[in-house]
Amino acid sequence: MEKLQQKIIEEGVALSDTVLKVDKFLNHQIDPQLMHEIGKEFVKRFENKKITKIVTLESSGIAPAVMAGLILDVPVVFARKKKSLTLKDGLITSTVYSYTKQETNEISVAEKFLSKDDHVLIIDDFLANGQAALALIDIVEKTNAEVTGIGIVIEKAFQDGGDILRNKGYQIESLARIKSLGNKSIEFVSEKEY
Ligand code: G4P
Ligand code: NA
Ligand code: NA
Repeated sequence: MEKLQQKIIEEGVALSDTVLKVDKFLNHQIDPQLMHEIGKEFVKRFENKKITKIVTLESSGIAPAVMAGLILDVPVVFARKKKSLTLKDGLITSTVYSYTKQETNEISVAEKFLSKDDHVLIIDDFLANGQAALALIDIVEKTNAEVTGIGIVIEKAFQDGGDILRNKGYQIESLARIKSLGNKSIEFVSEKEY
């Protein structure tokens, strides 16, 4: 997605060979116009698919997910990282292993918000090692709903997540795919390498 790549080039910062900082438009400050474009692009990439619900993970997945949900006119559910006070029973949970923090965390969704009849588009801001996406898939499949596909704003193609998910047969649509990061340079996977 050209606009997103431009934004990453203009406002993204390669903090290291593996970490891209995008807090000016995605992870802290949010650019609503860009999020709207992102939502439209997700809808376009899955336009032949049935989608009844969008599932994402708090916090940075919510903005792009809501934009797609607005256009599709379907509810957006975000998995929580912390247990809510008002919501203790009836949770579907899964675990996310963080390589960077070397810890396992639980994420959860209330079971009342997913049913076996749902066709779910999973959306997240980053795809790195794929652990968050795998946990979201696990939650959706525990309810016997169908995972229609996975929409990612920024995929770090040099990490394993993309291959893991594609090898499982899911349709993954990443709007920007980073080939490499480093020394203040950000390289994208070109469209023909897809
Ligand atoms: P990992 O081992 O797969 O790298 O996952 P980890 O749990 O360490 O990731 C921590 C957070 O960092 C996640 O967001 C993930 O989406 C995000 N992330 C992974 N790689 C990058 C990157 O290169 N740049 C940025 N900006 N984020 C990255 P989170 O903790 O769930 O945060 P949020 O959704 O509340 O913003
Ligand atoms: Na994040
Ligand atoms: Na995230």
